[in-house]
Amino acid sequence: MARFDGKVVLLTGAASGIGRATTVRLVSEGAQVFAVDVNGPGLDETAALATASGGPAVTTKIVDVSQRAECQAAVADCVAAFGRLDVLGNIAGIARADNVVDVTQEHWDRMIGVNVSGCFWMAQAAIPHLLETTGNIVNIASNAGFMGQAYTVPYCVTKGAVIQLTRALAMEYIKTKLRVNAIAPGGVNTSLAQNFHIPADVDFELMARYTGFRSMAEAEDIASMFAYLASDEARSVHGSIHSVDNGITAG
Ligand SMILES: NC(=O)c1ccc[n+]([C@@H]2O[C@H](COP(=O)([O-])OP(=O)(O)OC[C@H]3O[C@@H](n4cnc5c(N)ncnc54)[C@H](O)[C@@H]3O)[C@@H](O)[C@H]2O)c1
Repeated sequence: MARFDGKVVLLTGAASGIGRATTVRLVSEGAQVFAVDVNGPGLDETAALATASGGPAVTTKIVDVSQRAECQAAVADCVAAFGRLDVLGNIAGIARADNVVDVTQEHWDRMIGVNVSGCFWMAQAAIPHLLETTGNIVNIASNAGFMGQAYTVPYCVTKGAVIQLTRALAMEYIKTKLRVNAIAPGGVNTSLAQNFHIPADVDFELMARYTGFRSMAEAEDIASMFAYLASDEARSVHGSIHSVDNGITAG
């Protein structure tokens, strides 16, 4: 039996990068994936790639995770379609670099809305169903949640919040069998990293510490950790943050 046979998994950010790789990986291990994102064509491509792996067909839905009502509707649609929910993966996220004095209210609100509120609203909607299935949540944080990084202050704030969301949820449900964990990737070779534009006037000496010594990870590397944490093999893993960052936070 494959690790995710009979399991229903809701993944956000599934149109690209880590969300796409995770969808393909879990489908290849038997999961029924309900894939959501704001990018409809990207979702279609992910579904086609996952189908090629030979697992169950992927169901897709356009959802803006910053909107509570859309998160509630996504979870309700998933449970209506498949009768259960075993895993929630909060993967959707955005990043940008600015001098702190140039951050606009629009950029700040969007960053908080997608990276923090998105995880919170999805978890809030999913938890009653996950409690019924002894399910679990995997959030995608970042090494930026552990380190103070220049020129990405809002992003660091949001990823620190994802780490604390993970720990606080873990404690609120410590007396149940629900598991809540997070992955903290370092640089990953996805469109988010490829389109990361750094302001021209930055002091690169300040950025050297968190660029690291090794090459970037691939999205599939994060999907592997996700598949482990979301599976029953990780039954004793709860409330913990797993770095996959090529040593960026090691020293
Ligand atoms: N790539 C990296 O170097 C890196 C490092 C650490 C953490 N992360 C985190 O990994 C996660 C996935 O990022 P990625 O690297 O795969 O980037 P990506 O840009 O390839 O994928 C992010 C996905 O999130 C979706 N998304 C954005 N806003 C959304 C919204 N409001 N509602 C629903 N979906 C939305 C995008 O459309 C996209 O498909 C993010 O949370 C990111 O912060 C990435």
